[in-house]
Amino acid sequence: VIGIVGYGRFGKLTARYLSQDRSVVVYRRRETTGEPWEARVRFAGLAETCRQPVVILTVPISAMEAVLGEVAPLLKPGALVVDVCSVKELPIRWMREALPVGVSILATHPMFGPDSAADSLEGRKIVLCRERLPERLYRLVRRYLSGRGLAVIEAGAEEHDRQIAVSLALTHFIGRSLSGFGARGLAIDTEGYRRLLHILGVVENDTWQLFHDMHRYNAYAAETRRAFMDAMAAIERRLAASHPSSSTPPS
Ligand SMILES: NC(=O)c1ccc[n+]([C@@H]2O[C@H](COP(=O)([O-])OP(=O)(O)OC[C@H]3O[C@@H](n4cnc5c(N)ncnc54)[C@H](OP(=O)(O)O)[C@@H]3O)[C@@H](O)[C@H]2O)c1
Repeated sequence: VIGIVGYGRFGKLTARYLSQDRSVVVYRRRETTGEPWEARVRFAGLAETCRQPVVILTVPISAMEAVLGEVAPLLKPGALVVDVCSVKELPIRWMREALPVGVSILATHPMFGPDSAADSLEGRKIVLCRERLPERLYRLVRRYLSGRGLAVIEAGAEEHDRQIAVSLALTHFIGRSLSGFGARGLAIDTEGYRRLLHILGVVENDTWQLFHDMHRYNAYAAETRRAFMDAMAAIERRLAASHPSSSTPPS
């Protein structure tokens, strides 16, 4: 039996797929509207959810420390705790500090969400940062994930956070910026522009909290944003220098 703590966008996706081949118990803080897969899921209190042999935390990154404090005393010795946070260095540190030594830890980042995995998990990527867990259990989990069609990537937390600062945090930053700019569908467009609008559409489906957290808790996100904006400013300066009348004059 697998316990899931947190029932938002990613918690629902986790419950939906896992309940296809495992028994699933979910802790949600408040009633949600019935989803078709909920016939296969049992809702329970936090204590019962945390008594399961595997407990997956699908709460916002910024809620992790508080949730770990609540969850830790409720876990059974030998349980496995799995996180799905979109950053890895800090949540791993929090889990190591908060969880009893007899509890195993597996840090993951599923590189998909309710939009990209709406129809299937086939070929989607999941990053595993192996933490405090026996080799046998780790292999079991890896085999299960591969069997579900996922492409498993093993990485250290720092390497994950450095790459994700570009591939996820910067993508969302550009998507949110396009939204702030007011980008919208145009009759006279290009394939490239339609791709930009696609990014905008996808990132806006996630909560602002997730966007905020993936920047705030990733140690490399701020420097990545700065480097990107410096590059934009340099291109703008170059344009202004070569065609002073068609660009913003230097102040
Ligand atoms: N969205 C994605 O595509 C995606 C992909 C990969 C990984 N992730 C990761 O998944 C995690 C959740 O993201 P999300 O997009 O699913 O966020 P979300 O839609 O905001 O869902 C978060 C859920 O956690 C619950 N929660 C918040 N604080 C809690 C607490 N103290 N105790 C118990 N439950 C609590 C929320 O309950 P309320 O509704 O009552 O506030 C909500 O149900 C994050 O770590 C994120 O990095 C997300």
